[in-house]
Amino acid sequence: MCGIVGYIGNEDAKEILLKGLEKLEYRGYDSAGIAVMGQDDVHVFKEKGRIADLREIVDVTLSATTGIGHTRWATHGVPSKSNAHPHQSASGRFTLVHNGVIENYELLKQQYLMDIPMKSDTDTEVVVQLIEVNVNKGLSVEEAFSQTLKVLKGSYAIGLLDNENPDVIYVAKNKSPLLVGIGEDFNVIASDAMAMLQVTDQFVELMDQEIVLVKKEGVTIKNLQGDVIERAPYTAQLDASDIEKGTYPHFMLKEIDEQPLVIRKIIQQYQNDNGELTIDPEIVDAVNESDRIYIIAAGTSYHAGLVGKQFIEKLAEVPVEVHIASEFGYNIPLLSAKPLFIFISQSGETADSRAVLVQIKKLGHKSLTITNVPGSTLSREADYTLLLHAGPEIAVASTKAYTAQLAVLAILAEVTAKSTGKDVSLDLIRELGIAANAMETLCDEKEQIEQMASEYVQTTRNAFFIGRGIDYYVCLEGALKLKEISYIQAEGFAGGELKHGTIALIEEGTPIIALATQESVNLSIRGNVKEVVARGANPLIISMKGLEMEGDRFVIPEVHELLTPLISVVPLQLFAYYAALHRDCDVDKPRNLAKSVTVE
Ligand code: F6R
Repeated sequence: MCGIVGYIGNEDAKEILLKGLEKLEYRGYDSAGIAVMGQDDVHVFKEKGRIADLREIVDVTLSATTGIGHTRWATHGVPSKSNAHPHQSASGRFTLVHNGVIENYELLKQQYLMDIPMKSDTDTEVVVQLIEVNVNKGLSVEEAFSQTLKVLKGSYAIGLLDNENPDVIYVAKNKSPLLVGIGEDFNVIASDAMAMLQVTDQFVELMDQEIVLVKKEGVTIKNLQGDVIERAPYTAQLDASDIEKGTYPHFMLKEIDEQPLVIRKIIQQYQNDNGELTIDPEIVDAVNESDRIYIIAAGTSYHAGLVGKQFIEKLAEVPVEVHIASEFGYNIPLLSAKPLFIFISQSGETADSRAVLVQIKKLGHKSLTITNVPGSTLSREADYTLLLHAGPEIAVASTKAYTAQLAVLAILAEVTAKSTGKDVSLDLIRELGIAANAMETLCDEKEQIEQMASEYVQTTRNAFFIGRGIDYYVCLEGALKLKEISYIQAEGFAGGELKHGTIALIEEGTPIIALATQESVNLSIRGNVKEVVARGANPLIISMKGLEMEGDRFVIPEVHELLTPLISVVPLQLFAYYAALHRDCDVDKPRNLAKSVTVE
């Protein structure tokens, strides 16, 4: 989703901003722009399309050491050059980039800006115009900025330049993430630390509604009352090589291959000196004290939640409900007396999940965030956090975060179960180790999966994934992977449900990908496959060693039956990857999608 960068110092701002925007490309965007302070004036360059297109139009001869930049993922107004950020005020004095959504922008236009001709269809332009209107009324820029923020409803992260004072970038945020990066003789802003790791690893978190003046020599943070706040920087725990593709053609493939390592790292991170799995006792108590767990998540994280429900109910014996965040927020079900909310989110920034967190906090309920990003909004705002330790996930399609979520949920379930003396027959460290080895074996079988993808989906319009029990949840994830990066309409169904409607869609040659990793439903899922084959479907059965039957196309190594999702998802991820490649799709940056969905 939208990204912000800014630089003020002595170096070439254009290049630092463009490089920063390139690091944010993974978040998904449809246009981009930068504004830099030249000797005489602000120069704005913006373009629809990729950063590479923007690079083409930036005047390389221009000397500038201050600037702001933006990648836009359209919400208000189509993707276009005029709607791309930065936006400028009527006189051109103020230039602004914004992430988030200004909900009351129409009202603000009518109330304050009827005489100002708008140059774009965006909600953002209202902010920069309003700042100028307030300055024209006689307010200082800082006062005008602060006055403007007070009337905004919605979410924002903002960077603002003033032509008449090139020594400062004005910054503020509400709900949307924004960091200030600290350097020697320079400072930067970024919506994601990754963007500015090129120049610093020291970052300061900003809180909602603070006003921040970023100058070359220093950073001043003020609260709403104007008091100056001192806040020490932290070191971003990111390795620059984590965010490079290396020899891989795509981040997605790299991240699929990283999965065995991630599982092993998680085992290490959650092991104590005695070699036992351990979790903060406060979190274990919170689970034990709750009478029901509500898992809240979106997309792939929601699919991980469905599997997590099985882990927690089967091992810890606490009932679990799993909810889609964007639905839960508008339709809160009848809650139990002592609920615990678990937010699963790779990015920790998903606005739909955050909206639920805000609501349940008001109701006084406890919350745990399971996330890949320390210091993310959901992590900061929940009572407790468990980290995924998966390393940055850059490809829009989530892969290693999903399997990491499963591993952490399994650990949470097992540690909680043991804490109350439940007899847990599974040796989780051993079984996760076996799963990691099995993942490695699967990652070595790419050629076979590539072959399957080329046979099944090159020309098809749609594909169905079917499974029963825990396999069904993995089918939902496999279908999501395929649809989001290959644009084939793919859906996951419970095997037994097909005959209640969906079977009408089966035509000659329709691909049916069936998972058969559960002994208890092995025969029934195969019965469902027969039903669709009788109607012309082209089946691809992925089974597990020990359960395989004649005609199965791919057999995954045997792992503990509860942990099969960690393994069975790998061929589905690879299948989606190769299907997208065969269809010439942009694997890492699929159309219309954003990595971090920061609008509701
Ligand atoms: C799919 C995908 C999305 C995310 C969803 C939630 O591959 O990545 O479905 O899972 O947008 O994002 P997080 O986990 O960051 O809350």
